[in-house]
Amino acid sequence: MGRIIAVANQKGGVGKTTTAINLSACLAELGQRVLVIDADPQGNTTSGLGYEKNDLEHTLYDLMLGQCSVYDCTIENDFVDNLDIWPSNINLSGAEIELLDVPEKEYILKNEVAKIRGSYDFIIIDCPPSLNMLTVNAMTTADTVLVPIQCEYYALEGLTQLMHTVNLVKERLNEKLEIEGVVFTMYDARTNLSLEVVENVKENLDQNIYKTIIPRNVRLAEAPSYGVPITIYDPRSAGAENYRMLAEEVLNRGDD
Ligand SMILES: Nc1ncnc2c1ncn2[C@@H]1O[C@H](COP(=O)(O)OP(=O)(O)OP(=O)(O)O)[C@@H](O)[C@H]1O
Ligand SMILES: [Mg+2]
Repeated sequence: MGRIIAVANQKGGVGKTTTAINLSACLAELGQRVLVIDADPQGNTTSGLGYEKNDLEHTLYDLMLGQCSVYDCTIENDFVDNLDIWPSNINLSGAEIELLDVPEKEYILKNEVAKIRGSYDFIIIDCPPSLNMLTVNAMTTADTVLVPIQCEYYALEGLTQLMHTVNLVKERLNEKLEIEGVVFTMYDARTNLSLEVVENVKENLDQNIYKTIIPRNVRLAEAPSYGVPITIYDPRSAGAENYRMLAEEVLNRGDD
């Protein structure tokens, strides 16, 4: 049975989407069958993997509203073998209100994923920067939550709230849910601040922390504008190497 990982942190711009795209691509490169689900109405995973957000025939929104099937919604990536996506665009922002009266609305995504779960080794869900119904759906669907933490001064801010939400979901909606781990992103080796943040989080956060630290790397920021993951855009860059190492760590964790 495939592993389902929600990439979540309600703080904006910490590297959720960059991690969802590149971890997915690196797992696929390792021969894993991967589905990445764009659960963010910003649609950055969708555009970052080369899809024109506003030209999509079927999106996660249609799927969640019961207006298309999982097969309609799935697109195979042109550049990376073994990588599929359920894309999203701004329409998804309406889902929260439109699904307000639907019974069991916290399980809509889970019920759709259950139909295809056996076809994948990994399902990676990119969450929006809030703790809303979409994030709750992602956490209800997931086995684990992977939390990117940006190496900056306010890194720990909001983490208590995030952990609280994970615990609430675990108590009420998904008793299997665990924290996959924390991954540091945008580490800048030239500043003391990055190092201080890493040490501070390690001291204060009682969670699994990945050994791999993602450096600040301009190639990672450029890749989405070409619609490809870092493994295609610049396979020898530091960003590609480090996301490969993260993928190996994530893969090996499953064997523990
Ligand atoms: N390691 C990195 N090195 C350089 N730039 C990065 C790195 N990781 C992310 N970025 C850039 O930082 C910005 C925010 O990253 P990203 O979109 O992945 O964050 P996010 O958490 O998904 O944001 P949001 O909360 O809006 O969804 C983007 O412009 C991205 O290209
Ligand atoms: Mg994002």
